[in-house]
Amino acid sequence: MIEQQYTSSFAERVLAWFDKYGRKHLPWQQDVTPYKVWVSEIMLQQTQVATVIPYFKRFMASFPTVHDLAKASQDDVLHHWTGLGYYARARNLHKAANTLVEKYNGEFPYSLEEVMDLPGIGRSTAGAILSLSRNMRFPILDGNVKRVLARYYAIGGWPGQKTVENALWEVAEKNTPTRTEGGRCANYTQVMMDLGAMICTRSKPKCDECPLQADCIAYAQGAQTDYPGKKPKKTLPEKSTFMMVAQFNSQVYLEQRPSTGLWGGLYGFIEVSSIDEGIDKLNERGISVAETRALEGFRHTFSHFHLDITPVVAVVNSPPTKRVAERAFRWFSLNEPIEVGLAAPTTKIIQQLMR
Ligand code: ADE
Ligand code: SF4
Repeated sequence: MIEQQYTSSFAERVLAWFDKYGRKHLPWQQDVTPYKVWVSEIMLQQTQVATVIPYFKRFMASFPTVHDLAKASQDDVLHHWTGLGYYARARNLHKAANTLVEKYNGEFPYSLEEVMDLPGIGRSTAGAILSLSRNMRFPILDGNVKRVLARYYAIGGWPGQKTVENALWEVAEKNTPTRTEGGRCANYTQVMMDLGAMICTRSKPKCDECPLQADCIAYAQGAQTDYPGKKPKKTLPEKSTFMMVAQFNSQVYLEQRPSTGLWGGLYGFIEVSSIDEGIDKLNERGISVAETRALEGFRHTFSHFHLDITPVVAVVNSPPTKRVAERAFRWFSLNEPIEVGLAAPTTKIIQQLMR
């Protein structure tokens, strides 16, 4: 027997999955109208399906048509939104209802541009309304769909970036079934959301149940969670510190750092937030300081913050008394190689001293 290869298109495979497993019983999927799809899509923008369901039902009971919504007071609309959050959504919904009544006689327009012109409706929501309610061929690209497509095609980068978003829209558009492919645009839109929510989840995607596994690039690479790329980190917080370099002739004093945390287990200079504190700390260790002198500061950057380091040489004139610090400590000669683990800034300071 010839080994069977997948031959069906992207859309065919996900639609076959939809027929078996897709969601078909959500309240806004019964007696579908653009109005119901619109209200549900707005509610679902920042809120989980399970939370939305009771809100949607109450909303439809109070405002069964776009005319009822337009006539309602803003207070009443907001009241129905209490607990859903992001109240601009409700205000825009109310405004758009009035536009729909005044400009379109209460009927949703048929062009994507006109739908997108309504307050609170972006390209993806407009596409969802027109495809889900009228089976029109418009792609969608919400968070769920972005994740599926970014993984399937291994489209890297953060989708908040225009070039990445454009690449995703292009494949979203390309895969939406045409009339010759059966034209099941409503089901296609729904299944892409379902796959993102149920299978291709943010963490631990269920690739073994996914109809796209056979040629999903992220799956083949085992790199599912690398896609989509994350938002670039905001500017890192800045912290600053002094490092006390107790120096007796050609020896410097280093202490082992606690085994957990920053530079855990490495030897380093005592870190303090002021020079006075540094002198106190050295005194506690039986090291009496004759004078201090700050060296040129520098910045060390961690993944989560910048650390501005000012090394301070504390000149020690008499031999240190042998009081023991709580931690392992050593006097190291600057003339000999240091054979313990040092963090990068410690090495850098030692090099500054040897210049
Ligand atoms: N999230 C956004 N739109 C949805 C829909 N139509 N069904 C389920 N989840 C959704
Ligand atoms: Fe997502 Fe895995 Fe399916 Fe690829 S195979 S689309 S990563 S669930």
